[in-house]
Amino acid sequence: MQKQRSWRFTHTLSRRPANSVKDGLRAAGQADPVPELFKEEHHHYLKALERSGVLTTVLPSLEAFPDSVFVEDPVLCLSSTAVILRPGASSRFGEAEAIRPELEKIFDQVVGLTGPGFVDGGDILLTDDIAFIGLSERTDRAGVEELRPILERHGYQIRVVTTPAGVLHFKSDCGLLDSETVFATKALADSGCFNGFKLIEAPSGEEAAANLIRVNDFVIMRTGFALTRDLLEQNGYAVITVPADEAAKVDGGLSCMSLRFSLK
Ligand code: GLY
Repeated sequence: MQKQRSWRFTHTLSRRPANSVKDGLRAAGQADPVPELFKEEHHHYLKALERSGVLTTVLPSLEAFPDSVFVEDPVLCLSSTAVILRPGASSRFGEAEAIRPELEKIFDQVVGLTGPGFVDGGDILLTDDIAFIGLSERTDRAGVEELRPILERHGYQIRVVTTPAGVLHFKSDCGLLDSETVFATKALADSGCFNGFKLIEAPSGEEAAANLIRVNDFVIMRTGFALTRDLLEQNGYAVITVPADEAAKVDGGLSCMSLRFSLK
């Protein structure tokens, strides 16, 4: 089965933040995001995607689901197939079915995990050939084993890895820069999980910039991390920065706010 390249995309699907995003899940002690500011940041995020050459589709907000702006967690896109995942937080269970009708309009095939395991999309990093899946508070072995044959049918080798303790998702700490290169925090890089890939480490103190996304000719990263920006530019990447402080308050990042895929 033909795979999509891991960083070349024609389309994205996102969802507007709800006012209820202020009640989004987060690690203890983080302030509430301000919905109006979140919406402004989301606007910049969509502009960055458009500048990267994709056609963006934006779904209306879902007040019943505070974390529904993070569309990447309930779905995995694999060329002409969308896989409806089973997010591991109970307040997010309904998001998967809410997005299904939209996926059915776009993808040739929509399949779903039935459980009992759980997988959040934020724990999956797709490269051209390898699917890294980070075990975490949200993703368990039973979920991985249900997802495995679907990924293998699409030509991926599976590498089951561990999301660092205290980190919500595997991709909170890393992002793909190109087919051979991963950007990651030192903690994740030192774990050895990316053996075989070229690694660029997040500068000390800028770990919160590790959740970046490569979209066609651009790397999209958070505003406010000058060392990271310089490092990426020195390595030849064209960078777009977008503010994401409100998303970060609810442990969200740039990868979580879109599904990125290629349609023929
Ligand atoms: N706030 C994002 C999540 O916990 O899923």
